[in-house]
Amino acid sequence: EVLSEEVLYRPNFHFTPMTGWMNDPNGMFFYNGNYHLYFQHYPDGNKWGPMHWGHATSIDMVTWKEQPIALYPDEMGYIFSGSAVVDIDNTSGFGMDGKVPVVAMFTYHNMEIEKAEGIDVESQAIAYSLDEGITWTKYEGNPVIKNPGIRDFRDPKVLWDNLHKKWIMILAAQDRTKIYGSKDLKKWEELSDFGGNLDKAVGAHGGVWECPDLFTLPIEGTDEVKWVQLVSINPGGPNGGSATQYFIGDFDGKTFTMDKDFEKELKENHNFWIDFGKDNYAGVTFSNISSAKGGKFLMGWMSNWQYANVVPTETWRSAMTVSREIKLIKSANSYRLAFSPIEELNAYKEVKFKEEKIEVSGELEIISSEQLDLTQAQIKFNISEVKDKSLSFKLSNSLGDELLFGFDPKDNNFYVDRRKSGKVNFENRYASKISTATRISSNPSLNGTILLDKTSIELFYDDGEMVMTEIFFPNAPFERLSLVSKNEIYILDYIEVNQLNF
Ligand code: FRU
Repeated sequence: EVLSEEVLYRPNFHFTPMTGWMNDPNGMFFYNGNYHLYFQHYPDGNKWGPMHWGHATSIDMVTWKEQPIALYPDEMGYIFSGSAVVDIDNTSGFGMDGKVPVVAMFTYHNMEIEKAEGIDVESQAIAYSLDEGITWTKYEGNPVIKNPGIRDFRDPKVLWDNLHKKWIMILAAQDRTKIYGSKDLKKWEELSDFGGNLDKAVGAHGGVWECPDLFTLPIEGTDEVKWVQLVSINPGGPNGGSATQYFIGDFDGKTFTMDKDFEKELKENHNFWIDFGKDNYAGVTFSNISSAKGGKFLMGWMSNWQYANVVPTETWRSAMTVSREIKLIKSANSYRLAFSPIEELNAYKEVKFKEEKIEVSGELEIISSEQLDLTQAQIKFNISEVKDKSLSFKLSNSLGDELLFGFDPKDNNFYVDRRKSGKVNFENRYASKISTATRISSNPSLNGTILLDKTSIELFYDDGEMVMTEIFFPNAPFERLSLVSKNEIYILDYIEVNQLNF
């Protein structure tokens, strides 16, 4: 039986457009009961092309409904990545008849200038919506920031700085980020630079900097607030290709300065990635989350520029990660971000299997598709003494496809091995290597939450301090989840496997 790609690969709970190409999430915001997600989209083809902003809405950040396209390319260029804010006080003056304007800021990427090998390919522009993000009008004064002579100059992320009472915008400029300030979202003043090679290069520089974000987070358990900067880079990720790094520091209304302890740890070890898997890129946070809900929420593009254009789906290409809540943890030496799937996902959960103290020797089947659909499942586990124990999970089907993941104490590494996970030969960097990530935590115990969809796995270990996200394309749905031990016998202290019903 040959399954259609719709049945085999259309995700159960990860956003994907009905047809066409998708990359970065853009302009996510909350307003009046709805979450909005825009995305880099080429509706007329399944490879990257003239960029539009597609649109989807949700009432819980979990299930999304695709909406008509929000922004179309025009004579000024393709509509590249950017952000959106709700301009409650109508600082922009776009508001009319008491309607609150939503203002989007994006990059125009001009293909004519690119073909003529000009430098000023990219500039920043704005558009506004008076119907809560459904239809948009581009501002007649665009561009609002002209190209200053930097070829890569894109992906503006706007935020309201409540302390300094102004709009702040961060964008990527080749090997650094730049911060701008504004009172009205139209006139922008350049304020500072961060991370560039020419001054003090910091962070990873294996590729061009893209899609930055800047926001505050309280240190867990305190009232003290720190500033977080996210920067995506491509290539140069920890397991090759695209990935997103982060910096913790302070912001004085003008300049972002790294925290001293953080900077010290960064110099000693470059392990500050929001995700160590190969498939979480260009993630940014939702703006205007209601104060009643609170928190910071991120969504990323679940692919990698190494192979995004050739993954084995034809009707659509790519999915987003689940929305994740971000927390800032004070660690022994400095700070860490920790991520968890948003709690709204629990509303879809049906407990199917729970067991304590499982002795694992050899290969032990935990659950099969007779009991539960492993293409929409959540698994939680805990092991109290991980020392010397190689924790190994295996997803498999009757065609012999398998996905292996777990923890190897010998190298102190987490890993995802998709080398035999089904279709793997579409690009040689896709499955040439096992993805690994050195464990950060030194706790004796190890816990994890695993999210499984038809073509993706999201692993949150050590209370979300270590995340690995990867996609896969089995020839038939995975039917069995097993635990495997190599030589030793080990005890898994707790495991629960839950069905997610959508
Ligand atoms: C990141 C990115 C952005 C750009 C967009 C174009 O994946 O390269 O820097 O705005 O994609 O689609």
